[in-house]
Amino acid sequence: TEHDEYMGSLKAQLAKLFEVSLKVTVPNELDVEPLVAACNGKFGDYQCNNAMGLWSKIKGKGAPFRGPPAVGEAIKNNLPSSEMIESCSVAGPGFVNVVLSKNWMAKSIQKMLIEGIDMWAPLPPVKTAVVDFSSPNIAKEMHVGHLRSTIIGDTLARMLEFSKVKVLRRNHVGDWGTQFGMLIEFLFEKFPNFEDATETAIGDLQAFYKASKQRFDADPAFKERAQQAVVRLQGGEDKYRRAWARICQISRTEFHKVYQRLGVHLEEKGESFYNPYIPGVIEALNKQGLVEESQGARVIFIEGINIPLIVVKSDGGFNYASTDLAALWYRLNEEKAEWIIYVTDVGQQQHFDMFFKAAKRAGWLPQGDSSYPKASHVGFGLVLGEDGKRFRTRNTEVVRLVDLLDEAKVRSKAALIERGKGEEWTEEEIESTAEAVSYGAVKYADLKNNRLTNYTFNFDQMLNDKGNTAVYLLYAHARICSIIRRSGKDIEELKNKGTLVLGHKDERDLGLHLLQFAEVGTMTRFAPCFLTRARFYRVYQNFQVVEEACTNLLPNVLCDYLYNLSEIFSKFYSNPECKVIGSDMETSRLLLCEATAVVMRKCFDLLGIAPIYKI
Ligand code: ARG
Repeated sequence: TEHDEYMGSLKAQLAKLFEVSLKVTVPNELDVEPLVAACNGKFGDYQCNNAMGLWSKIKGKGAPFRGPPAVGEAIKNNLPSSEMIESCSVAGPGFVNVVLSKNWMAKSIQKMLIEGIDMWAPLPPVKTAVVDFSSPNIAKEMHVGHLRSTIIGDTLARMLEFSKVKVLRRNHVGDWGTQFGMLIEFLFEKFPNFEDATETAIGDLQAFYKASKQRFDADPAFKERAQQAVVRLQGGEDKYRRAWARICQISRTEFHKVYQRLGVHLEEKGESFYNPYIPGVIEALNKQGLVEESQGARVIFIEGINIPLIVVKSDGGFNYASTDLAALWYRLNEEKAEWIIYVTDVGQQQHFDMFFKAAKRAGWLPQGDSSYPKASHVGFGLVLGEDGKRFRTRNTEVVRLVDLLDEAKVRSKAALIERGKGEEWTEEEIESTAEAVSYGAVKYADLKNNRLTNYTFNFDQMLNDKGNTAVYLLYAHARICSIIRRSGKDIEELKNKGTLVLGHKDERDLGLHLLQFAEVGTMTRFAPCFLTRARFYRVYQNFQVVEEACTNLLPNVLCDYLYNLSEIFSKFYSNPECKVIGSDMETSRLLLCEATAVVMRKCFDLLGIAPIYKI
């Protein structure tokens, strides 16, 4: 199949060649892992950094080398010949530098143009993954934290899907719990015929929640009824189930509007879904001897953490953690997921840490984090307002998501009209462009930051058409499309009949960056040759960790790649020596423009941003 033919990133392909060389160079050292990194430096494009480490292992054991540089020299000489390599050299204490062949690079890019960008998809070691994201709570407003979860989770899901992983996009909505007793009783009071009550009659569910809470706190009789309602709901009494379902449905409609606008697809399996599984799961853990009694509650102790994970509350009820345990059990055993990714704010880190450890104790997950099945918590920081405090509107309410999207759109539309598009474009074009640009801008502003840091929400910044913003990138892409259109050439025909050549340095730089798309997340720009040995190992080790973390879980790496791509393209395009239209290299350069546009569009796609084609 197509997938078996996958060659891997440049780095992976080179690593395969070096692996062969290492076996020949040091036949007695088993399983030496080739250390290959992009260095994009003046000595080469990639570097193999095994010589020093190997030297310290083999010296004094009668190996036929006189020091790391000699080991490097041997690694170089034993490298199998390959179309992809133009030349190799050894530098400093044995770094083997590789210069890639321009011909091979050009051919590879053209092949991608013909066969499609899917051939550059990475190949992760799992078949099925769950991405648990967005996950707002019923009857509460979706706030900016849920926006972050929705945006980050969607991107992670898209990256995995691109890599042909079957992704179960799970909306773990908070649709269960004691607050429903109060909501249901309040619903009965306000709308005796609650099933006929329309969404608009109930209106703002958040206000409804507040009002019922007030009633709950003020009237002991109501409180009593609400507590009864919880019992009757959990007992499955029909009227209570129907009232609960009605409330969930109203919330769902609201959530759905946001997802639709953001173009995010989710499948709801809320907390209530896992409820029937909880008793069995807890019983199984109990049989394993993991569940203990503590202050009336049933808990699991976790090594190194002084508070235990409560799995049954002292009143016998279940909680967030019980549900998460049941959900994890279900995902592993029923859905056969090998990677389960949870996207929430970092505030929940301890919860996940504890419950993953409990799952490891139970033997559901392997010890350590490098084998599968694996559970990962993808945490993110707060969204801040310009005052540096938690993002709120003037009346200190949480910011409503839809309002943010509305405002971004209004601003984008105004900017388009200011650019004179009002006369040139149809109303529909303006609308759809404003939407693509504004929603793209909101997403990109979030994704471009390292997700763990807080980020400041600022419309002026995110909607700026200069700098590292979606607007700038979308315009850059639209301009490339217009270059191709203006040429009047049929690009599909050129892909097959023309030839792409990387003659000029700026063309080669662009080509290399395009080819490195496949290793987004594994890229590094440090140059080990300038580091001392101790520092080199420290940096390198760090880098390994970063690389691991990047395997689909740090969208900002993809944003950096995209931004760099656009900058490198600009350098090429603005160089008079690289004139496109009308030059004798026109065909080749148009193909390079097209390849850039294709890769940019794939990045947009992975980031959940809709491209625009003209500006
Ligand atoms: N509903 C939770 C919240 O709003 C997020 C749920 C995350 N997913 C999970 N499996 N715990 O904070």
